[in-house]
Amino acid sequence: MCGIIGYIGNDSATDIVVDGLKKLEYRGYDSAGVGVIEDGKLRVIKKKGRVKNTEEAIPKTLKSTIGIGHTRWATHGAPSDKNSHPHISQNIAVVHNGIIENYACLKKELESEGVVFTSETDTEVIPHLINKIISNSMSDTDNIKCEIFYFHSILKAIRKLSGSYALAILNTDFPDLIVCVKRGSPLVVSKSNTASFIASDVGVASKHGGEIFILDDDELALIKKGEVNFFDTRGREKKKNSIVYEKEENSDELGNNAHHMLKEIKEIPSAIHETVIGVKKCFFNLEKNKLKKIKKIVLVGCGTAYHAGLSAKTVLEKFTKIPSYVEVASEFRYSNPLIGKETLVVLISQSGETADTLAALELAKKKRALTLAVVNNTTSAIALGADSRIITRAKKEIAVASTKAYNSQLVALYSFALYLADIKQTMPQDQINALKEMLLNLPKAAREVIESGLDKINSDIIKIFKDEKAIMFLGRGIDYATASEASLKLKEITYIHCSAYPAGELKHGTIALIENNYLVVAYLTDSTLKDKTLNALYEVKARGAKVFAITNQDLPKDAYDYIYEVPRLGILSPIASIIPMQIISYLTAVAKEIDPDKPRNLAKSVTVE
Ligand code: M6R
Repeated sequence: MCGIIGYIGNDSATDIVVDGLKKLEYRGYDSAGVGVIEDGKLRVIKKKGRVKNTEEAIPKTLKSTIGIGHTRWATHGAPSDKNSHPHISQNIAVVHNGIIENYACLKKELESEGVVFTSETDTEVIPHLINKIISNSMSDTDNIKCEIFYFHSILKAIRKLSGSYALAILNTDFPDLIVCVKRGSPLVVSKSNTASFIASDVGVASKHGGEIFILDDDELALIKKGEVNFFDTRGREKKKNSIVYEKEENSDELGNNAHHMLKEIKEIPSAIHETVIGVKKCFFNLEKNKLKKIKKIVLVGCGTAYHAGLSAKTVLEKFTKIPSYVEVASEFRYSNPLIGKETLVVLISQSGETADTLAALELAKKKRALTLAVVNNTTSAIALGADSRIITRAKKEIAVASTKAYNSQLVALYSFALYLADIKQTMPQDQINALKEMLLNLPKAAREVIESGLDKINSDIIKIFKDEKAIMFLGRGIDYATASEASLKLKEITYIHCSAYPAGELKHGTIALIENNYLVVAYLTDSTLKDKTLNALYEVKARGAKVFAITNQDLPKDAYDYIYEVPRLGILSPIASIIPMQIISYLTAVAKEIDPDKPRNLAKSVTVE
């Protein structure tokens, strides 16, 4: 959610801030804005819509070497020019990622003191609050331009906020200073000899070289050109180490691809390969003795990551015989879960930043469970906060709809299940070895599914999906997990109402939806449940449904209308069988003229509750 940028150096702040905003646009694209100091005056340009709208509105003559910027995913107040950030109070401008939960009460207080608000956002209370604190606590002898006084006023303001925030604050009284502070939302600072840079993610912050620092919660940074000092919220200076970050080459480039989503689907084979190889290194760092004592596993995630957990649950129970449960992170965090020292809580997250999953991690730690992060971002809060981590090596994913990260999560989780089966000796060694061998061959199988998919998923197939108003997805066991992910993929980028059900649940209500020509997508790759799923297909067909079957089984011709064949990979089948629906979703979005990389109302990284 929301992306923050800041820059102080010798170059054009507007150019650098706009460039950074374009790279952070995946975090939110309802509106964007830039605030700079030019000749001691605050200049703010902000527009509804994509970053390019703001970019076009910036006067070419604007000259500044200090600035902040924001790309917004709206929480409080509709996407509009006035609700865009930065928000201003006289000489102070603020950009914010997060939610100020007590804003209504602060706003009331400020209004009673005569402050006039110009937006409907929660954020606007922050600059007004800082200004109010400055004016209320200034005595005749205080100097408004004293940095320490300003710094302490910000500390006082922060103490009044509840909720989550990453803030960058600009003040014309301090034209060579940006103040940053964070709680619950990510913020990264980088500095070289001649410039300093602020961003919401490490990848973007690293673009400018120099040392990189990840801010902790309740940490403030005073940022000047080539100089950064860190403090806690009591104003005490802190020593902070920079991190080592391996830059990813060309992750932002589209190459010959029309969209990031298409590029990322094509990258699935290499993501799987890198993950299979890489997880072995992660296993060295796991605490074997503690894992051996585990009696219960809880997998936690949101959206696609939750579906990866759903799929892994079946595999973990089968391989390790440890009872495994899956929970949506936003439910888990408020459920007072029955977990303790002998529970392993697996936090699954591509970004490693998702607020609910991060809160689930904190809760699991509080309850003394062993925590394992399965993350794609090595420097994220979830990766750094868990007891141990398995890295999915999908590289940066930019498209909002997750593809290669999902396939990599499955690979990582299934590999972990094998590792656990190995140390707990719950599976014969020859079976473990055979499955490890199959995992190594998966990239080849995935490549074939992608190549044939991009070749054969033509306009005739897209026509089946494109004009539907509602589509039902069915599957049993592990195929239900794949059906759930397929349903999410299609709905989030085509806006078709899709929902997935376990095939056996149909008769308990859902079948009432079926009428003539209703489209049902059925997943059927688990041979042990074939006959049971077939029953469901006959039941919906008997009521007029069209069935699009995605299967690696031989099905009777009267059980389906369309059939899409996927490879027989036994229990590993979901890693390949999701691919056709990833491609169909992408091509359907394109056919409906929807930008698959930036579907409406969504953002790549959900850092608010
Ligand atoms: O970064 P995370 O894996 O924690 O994100 C979780 C979900 O927000 C994410 O998977 C979301 O559902 C995607 N849009 C799905 O394509």
